[in-house]
Amino acid sequence: MLSRSALLVQQLSTVNSRRNLSIKQLHDIKPIIKRNLAWFSNQPGKETFGGRLKRRLKNVFVVTVAGLGTFYAYRAYNRYKWFHEMSDSDKTLGTKQRIVVLGTGWGAVPLLKHIDTNKYEVICVSPRNYFLMTPLLPSVSVGTVETRTVIESVRSLIGPRIKYIEAHCVNIDPKAKLITCNTDGDSNVSRGDDVKAILSISKREGGASSRIIKDSARTRPQFDMKYDILVVAVGSENNTFNTPGVEEHAHFLKELLDARRIRSAISDAFESAMTPTQTVEEKKRLLHFVVVGGGPTGVEFAAELADLVREDLQHYFPRLVANDVKITLIEALDHVLSMMDKKISDYTERHFRRENIEVLMNTFVKEVKQREVVVQYKGSTELKSIPCSMVVWATGIKARPLTNKIREIIGLNIQSNRMGLLTDRYLRVKGVDDGSIFAIGDCATIQPAKLADRIQALFEEADTQNRGALDLQQFRTLVEKKVAEYPQLEVFSKKIEDAFAEADKDKSGYLTLSTLRSILEKADQKIRALPATAQVASQEGRYVAKLLNQLSNVHSTDFQQQNLTPFQYKHMGSLAYVGGDEAVLDFTGSKPLLDYFDLKPLSGRSAVYLWKSFYFTEMFTGRTKTLLAFDWVRTHIFGRDISRY
Ligand code: NAI
Repeated sequence: MLSRSALLVQQLSTVNSRRNLSIKQLHDIKPIIKRNLAWFSNQPGKETFGGRLKRRLKNVFVVTVAGLGTFYAYRAYNRYKWFHEMSDSDKTLGTKQRIVVLGTGWGAVPLLKHIDTNKYEVICVSPRNYFLMTPLLPSVSVGTVETRTVIESVRSLIGPRIKYIEAHCVNIDPKAKLITCNTDGDSNVSRGDDVKAILSISKREGGASSRIIKDSARTRPQFDMKYDILVVAVGSENNTFNTPGVEEHAHFLKELLDARRIRSAISDAFESAMTPTQTVEEKKRLLHFVVVGGGPTGVEFAAELADLVREDLQHYFPRLVANDVKITLIEALDHVLSMMDKKISDYTERHFRRENIEVLMNTFVKEVKQREVVVQYKGSTELKSIPCSMVVWATGIKARPLTNKIREIIGLNIQSNRMGLLTDRYLRVKGVDDGSIFAIGDCATIQPAKLADRIQALFEEADTQNRGALDLQQFRTLVEKKVAEYPQLEVFSKKIEDAFAEADKDKSGYLTLSTLRSILEKADQKIRALPATAQVASQEGRYVAKLLNQLSNVHSTDFQQQNLTPFQYKHMGSLAYVGGDEAVLDFTGSKPLLDYFDLKPLSGRSAVYLWKSFYFTEMFTGRTKTLLAFDWVRTHIFGRDISRY
């Protein structure tokens, strides 16, 4: 452009050496200007405004049409593919082995996502037609995160090849390989029709809202269904320990409906306290929120509630927050988060004090009444009443009625664990001879194989030179070879020399059968059941899917012969939100990678970023990830919505 301008000036100056131009000279200049104008008019910088606008609109139009075309073509292709796969799987009904999965939670969904639908006909039966991101329920209960963010339709998650039926399984016949289902089973699982109960305030009686409204228009007959393989992943329910009044007056935090009820109750308490004729004493009662249980659920809820009060309610109800609001966390043991590192418990307790959350340790809740909780302090026989308006009960979990029914059907002598179904290391339910029932997640407990039961065989296998004694190397080989089968051997894996030296009391350099027995019995004492966490359930779900995909014959029960590896849990650490934009992370016992770095417990603001990124990546779909990111930003900028709806 610049060189073209210089050329034009040069051409003009040769024609016009004088200041005044004659008619002839003007005539000479005309073609030069014309030529150059044509060149300049082709340059974008010299385009007229109208031309530019027209060109840009044209570009936008082309891009929009191409984009929309691609989008609709992709959507149409996806719908065609979905329909095609669905009718494909309909055509093959009854021709493949059938796997029936009970549940749509943390154990079932990873299994359903990884199972090979070319190999099996897969049917999922559950009363809840969505997957619920349970760790975010405390955030939902105070409005940090919206309800639709934490759920995803199970049909969209499992795809067209797997059939889903919304029903309760109420009975199992392991001999006939048959399940019986209806819609009125376990009433503790929330369904769509329950939601109406909290929406109609007129149903409130004596301060408690009616729980279930039946929809008379709905008819769903009972049905039986055959299975070749049954996977029980029905989860657990809240444990009240038969404490009087809990079922009637306390809130739980396990289902989406629980979170909605709590959100409504918090709003109700504040609006009631604003009634002009309210007494000071009644205001204090109305605004006293009690959380029972210092496990992760109780701690996270208390933390979210404190955030709501400080960040939002203080703005709308400054006097009430300054004078009357109180949050109390009651824990029966002498620490909160007792399953985590002691440093984390201490940190959380100090942090709660700063957040104005009163923590009552060594305090046992004996009864919950409509307007108070009755507590007893450790070492005292006296009962004390604490007035309050809302009690959130988070004292742990117990087996569902269906789990207990299966235990009874199999026989309580075999299924002796009251917490759930005992399984072998391949997650097959004990006492089912053909190995056709698996159990995963909160409803299952792996029965560990004890070293002491096979001590003689283990000793003979390790004693390769038939000396009747093991040296350090042989002991090391035994531990390394058997640790997958007997996870309790892990206690020796890091300090094998120390364990050997401790057992070899006479310093002979060898272990006899009896000395080996003494240390292996110690290892057996370290056996702990896996915690009832989402992490365990999802690993178990993925494992069973992989195992069933590998299986050459579902009727063969000898998995060892088929070279199938038993389930091994990989702990990635525990984490909890403690409020004020802080979290705690405990990597103790995490393996295999994190163990190598020997990470220390983490607390504070840096931990909250890890907490957030962890749950963000755990969200199953792009839709819920986007909604979660929007919710966090919305809460940060505009605050939480405190209206009751
Ligand atoms: P929990 O069993 O972990 O804790 C319940 C607490 O309540 C215990 O500390 C117990 O001492 C206390 N308690 C029991 N009865 C009581 C009474 N009458 N009065 C006062 N205190 C009483 O239960 P939680 O928190 O509901 O968790 C259930 C499972 O889910 C656990 O396995 C937990 O690890 C897991 N979970 C993990 C989360 C995470 O990792 N962030 C989040 C939520 C749950």
